Amino acid sequence: MQRVLITGAAKGIGRGVAEAFAAQGAKLVLMDVDAAGLEGAAAALAGKAAAVEICVGSVASLADCNRAAALAQSRFGGLDVLSHNAGIQTYGTVESTDEALWDRTLDVNLKGAFLVSKACMPMIRASRGNVVHISSVQGVASQAGVTAYSVSKHGLIGLVRSMAVDYAPYGVRVNGIAPGSVDTPLLRNAVDAAPDPAAVYAEIDGMHPLGRMAAPSEIASVVVFLASDNASFITGEVVRVDGGMRARLGGSPKTQ
Ligand SMILES: NC(=O)c1ccc[n+]([C@@H]2O[C@H](COP(=O)([O-])OP(=O)(O)OC[C@H]3O[C@@H](n4cnc5c(N)ncnc54)[C@H](O)[C@@H]3O)[C@@H](O)[C@H]2O)c1
Repeated sequence: MQRVLITGAAKGIGRGVAEAFAAQGAKLVLMDVDAAGLEGAAAALAGKAAAVEICVGSVASLADCNRAAALAQSRFGGLDVLSHNAGIQTYGTVESTDEALWDRTLDVNLKGAFLVSKACMPMIRASRGNVVHISSVQGVASQAGVTAYSVSKHGLIGLVRSMAVDYAPYGVRVNGIAPGSVDTPLLRNAVDAAPDPAAVYAEIDGMHPLGRMAAPSEIASVVVFLASDNASFITGEVVRVDGGMRARLGGSPKTQ
């Protein structure tokens, strides 16, 4: 039975990951800044997961990350899996991103991944467990106007690789996922604020050769796979789960 700490567990992908691990009978520590969302997630998962603990806190705070890790230690005696999903979407070019937005984005998306890893690695090392970080397709390429976000997601892939190398001698695996568009509150909040949301949803669907965005469960199932013994020789990898988005060259000139 795996003991799993899941960040960003109140909503979206993290919530989907929590549901997927609960279906495996795992013991869960759910961490998020959204207290009400965490309560709701924990209530929904009670009776499915073997146990659910919640920690209201920010991954951008080492003290909060240490509190979440301590909960896993005190309630479950350790940790087998860190599933890090917490993240924020921000927008701007180098010129239009002010210093505070840059700092906030990097603090949550990149430093947060470092801090929660720092808090959890002693337990993960002890259990010869593993880590799955959620990056993005914006960690391997970039759309327009997402400088800080894209940089944070590129950095996260560097963290995956450096952790994989450092912890392989301990039998610990560290992997990442680069999702395409996923139907979550993060995406819906951004699209619904646009002047013509329907057109944006259609454009997003069309960016993926499969013609649609993903459900959170389609990312969560890959997290569960990477965290399982079925992935026992996979480490330092970042799996694209993007409906073929990065497989396609841009443009389709009608030459035939
Ligand atoms: N939705 C997408 O299309 C998409 C695509 C690629 C990658 N991602 C990445 O997947 C991850 C999850 O995104 P999502 O779409 O589920 O977002 P979401 O906003 O729906 O959920 C993210 C959760 O993280 C929590 N969170 C935010 N800041 C936090 C902090 N400092 N500490 C702890 N929790 C915090 C939020 O409260 C929320 O519950 C993010 O890292 C995001 O960048 C999302």
